[in-house]
Amino acid sequence: MTRIRSVVRGCGSYLPAEILTNEELAKSVDTSDEWIVQRTGIRSRHLAAPGEMTSDLAIAASKAALADAGMDASEIDLIVLATSTPDNTFPASATTVQAALGIHHGFAFDLQAVCSGFVYAIAVADKFLVSGQYKRALVIGAETFSRILDWTDRTTCVLFGDGAGAVILEATEQPGDAADRGVLTTHLRSDGRHKAKLFVDGGPSSTGTVGHVRMEGREVFRHAVGMITDVIKDAYAATGESSASIDWFVPHQANRRIIDASAQKLGIPPEKVVVTVDRHGNTSAASIPLALAAARADGRIKQGDLVLLEAMGGGFTWGSALLRW
Ligand code: UT7
Repeated sequence: MTRIRSVVRGCGSYLPAEILTNEELAKSVDTSDEWIVQRTGIRSRHLAAPGEMTSDLAIAASKAALADAGMDASEIDLIVLATSTPDNTFPASATTVQAALGIHHGFAFDLQAVCSGFVYAIAVADKFLVSGQYKRALVIGAETFSRILDWTDRTTCVLFGDGAGAVILEATEQPGDAADRGVLTTHLRSDGRHKAKLFVDGGPSSTGTVGHVRMEGREVFRHAVGMITDVIKDAYAATGESSASIDWFVPHQANRRIIDASAQKLGIPPEKVVVTVDRHGNTSAASIPLALAAARADGRIKQGDLVLLEAMGGGFTWGSALLRW
């Protein structure tokens, strides 16, 4: 029996022009290129220019995704923008993107699940599309984490970067069998008991300030691989797929060691893992769509490929999505 699936029609990304290398960072905080590369795999990250906001990054990535899809913005029904660094406390930066793209119908909203935001956004957009109510969704991950970093705290400031990525999902009738294209399954989790391990020490209702990222890195690391592999096993159980059938593993890009350990635990060979953390750092909700756009642009991800996404971050939140491109 046929069924409606959310199929990726296009993807795109945007990185701010300024690149900050580890060596440059080491001039202002007590760190070294060697420490950062060994512990995280990060070599450089991009930083938004003064005045360049999350919505600006999101708009550029969205335009690239629309061009990739050969689609006009007027064909988009809903916009889900995953971000923890919106332009303003309100309105949602998604509505700024909507206006900039000249879309005056449908609806747009922000979704906040920190580093898991893009996986959450894919899951939410997919539900709207498979319900049959809407046809096309623009799903964006965009962040300017540089604005919420304490640039004197070497335990966090070396880890993050700015950027944006976007995909366009279209509700499409599929055969309803194992060869279906589109989002095949999503699995979301959170556990608020872990709040103190990774949080921002400010906000509109607490301090009235934006605040800075605070993290017990070792504690986050300790939980990450288990949580990631659990939700991936959920995706396998729901679909009958396994690591053997995965063409591309596109994980959240927080730390090369977490990525490698997760892939190894799952039995996914390194050549099937898309890694951009070396060049982008951790861009939170933007990291997966940035990696997808990179692997699509260089010809790795092709139509029909089985693509596995996962993320884990503040909250804790974590989740997986399995899709056939
Ligand atoms: O995307 C959201 C999820 N976030 C994550 O997944 C991040 C998870 N955590 C991590 O990636 C790692 O825990 C870090 C990269 C943050 C840290 O790596 P680690 O191997 O866990 O190091 P550590 O925190 O145990 O620190 C080891 C040492 C400490 O010194 P002592 O106490 O052993 O003397 C730190 O003070 O490294 C020191 N250190 C640094 N040294 C140079 C911490 N940050 C730095 C730094 N440069 N930037």
